[in-house]
Amino acid sequence: MMNVIDAIQTRRSIHDFKNELVDEAVLQEIFQIASWAPNHRLKEPWNVVVYQNEGAQHYVDLVIESYLRQGFAKGYSAEKADKMMNGIKQFLIQIPHHALIYLERDSDLHKFEEDYSAVCAFIQNAQLAAWEKGVGGLWTTSPYIHDTEFIKGIGLDPASHKVAGVIQLGYPARIPEPKARRKVQLTFQNESFGSNSK
Ligand SMILES: Cc1cc2nc3c(=O)[nH]c(=O)nc-3n(C[C@H](O)[C@H](O)[C@H](O)COP(=O)(O)O)c2cc1C
Repeated sequence: MMNVIDAIQTRRSIHDFKNELVDEAVLQEIFQIASWAPNHRLKEPWNVVVYQNEGAQHYVDLVIESYLRQGFAKGYSAEKADKMMNGIKQFLIQIPHHALIYLERDSDLHKFEEDYSAVCAFIQNAQLAAWEKGVGGLWTTSPYIHDTEFIKGIGLDPASHKVAGVIQLGYPARIPEPKARRKVQLTFQNESFGSNSK
């Protein structure tokens, strides 16, 4: 079994997937493991819908419609826009699974932020658990996650639901080279400071 540091450091965002579905039991296990994410008041605020097979067709159509509404093809001839959108559609359709993660919007902003933070921890846990099982993911937050028509299209209520993101999932066909990270500069505050300091 991969240790947690290896999983964190070797996981890569995957853009190219094999034409192969991940077993539903494996996906279930990945998100079950992810649910050990810290979450305040044990609200377990995450919800996951996995679009796959025929279920991905309508989902991808909604994504394309959202892109068009947001002007992705603005200024293009109808023919060029059509070609571009078809290209995006073909690309999205061959991704084995689209796991959309959403949460309820708490009316209290502080609690909403806590829930959203917990959901982000859940998403990264899912990516790491998936990686350990040889499954790759790409965490995406394309603009459709804020598009009320898209949100309604997938059967949610924009007033009460927030789409946190979508993890595209599948077995990697290609694993990109790591992108180096900068040194994290820690500031250690050992002396007293602020209004209490003399
Ligand atoms: C909130 C969030 C949204 C992201 N959205 C996208 C995206 O829309 N498209 C994309 O190619 N990568 C997206 N990424 C992945 C980053 O580009 C990726 O993590 C970064 O390039 C580092 O690569 P690595 O994950 O392989 O280390 C997103 C990552 C996060 C955390």
